[in-house]
Amino acid sequence: MGFIVAVDGPAGSGKGTITKKIAEEMNLTSIDTGAMYRSVTLAMLEANIKVDQIEKITKLLEQINIEFKRFGNEQKIFLNGKDVSLEIRTKKVNENVSQVSAIGIVRTKMAELQREMAKSIDVIMEGRDIGTNVFPNADVKIYLDATPEERAKRRYLQNKENGIEIPFEEILENVKQRDFIDSTREIAPLKKAEDAIYIDSSNMSIEEVVNEIKNIISNKRK
Ligand code: DC
Repeated sequence: MGFIVAVDGPAGSGKGTITKKIAEEMNLTSIDTGAMYRSVTLAMLEANIKVDQIEKITKLLEQINIEFKRFGNEQKIFLNGKDVSLEIRTKKVNENVSQVSAIGIVRTKMAELQREMAKSIDVIMEGRDIGTNVFPNADVKIYLDATPEERAKRRYLQNKENGIEIPFEEILENVKQRDFIDSTREIAPLKKAEDAIYIDSSNMSIEEVVNEIKNIISNKRK
């Protein structure tokens, strides 16, 4: 295993932006595990598979291919050879991804892929269960948080930048709903690992959070 930084936290806590910046500045490979759950959700929606059709889901997972590819500064995600980086951010996927990520066999398969990806490289991996379940022995564990309102605001602005128009109220509702499902599900729920460092980013700039985490990593990665 290489050096592993686990960053967990709820939707919109800033994990994505911060993880990417730190990866660039510290020569780590960033892995967005939420994008992987979103890809499985998209694949299920496309194949019209429902969350209780376990046999069909098992087949789909046996054949699924999820890859991250870098294009200059941009990282894209490919589902069975097709770039789905934008498609996995649509309303339809947002509404279904929590239910899909509560399915045991989906989680087992994703954790397997994530461990495989980090086998021989230094990574900063962001998600919900990285420090608790995927890499309980990660070198650095961060739990990044922010208030639901602040997180909904960030997601709203992020969507706008990507040309996706979803009303703020709808996003806030979705954020709260996903928090609830993600933190109360039976398997690998969203929660702070006991030994994770807690950072509340509600009133911090991106730079401040990045610098704080960079210091933590530097102290461990000598
Ligand atoms: O980070 P995100 O909002 O793109 O994640 C999408 C969904 O995937 C989120 O609702 C919870 C789920 N997820 C998960 O269960 N475990 C992870 N490690 C990452 C994401």
